[in-house]
Amino acid sequence: MGFIWRDSYSIGNASIDAEHQQLFKLADAFFNADDQQKKTECAIRLFKYTREHFDHEEQLMRDMGYPEFPAHAQQHTQLISRLNEVSEKIANNTLSHSELKAFLTAWLVGHIVTFDTRLSAYVRQADASKP
Ligand SMILES: [Fe+2]
Repeated sequence: MGFIWRDSYSIGNASIDAEHQQLFKLADAFFNADDQQKKTECAIRLFKYTREHFDHEEQLMRDMGYPEFPAHAQQHTQLISRLNEVSEKIANNTLSHSELKAFLTAWLVGHIVTFDTRLSAYVRQADASKP
């Protein structure tokens, strides 16, 4: 199994959608990393990219006055702390493949397909009201 982007995940903002696609690629590479060193590299790459992406997404939500912003930002904070736990487990060599899969599925992909797609209606509405 892999992490494959679907068009139905898009929220209608080109740069956020491109970043989400990149996150799927990073998740897929992470899932397929077969040794400690590759896993460490993937975790670092995912961490950096996720931080930058969350900054962009949170800025967009603030700009639009998105009403679910606090709850959504809270999810981002939790995801970052889960990612830290995953990185620690890689360092201690105690991360099982099923745990990694659960993290990537529930937290990363799950976040994009549930929380981020909820932004979609808002983004499209904001676009439609532009002069
Ligand atoms: Fe998000």
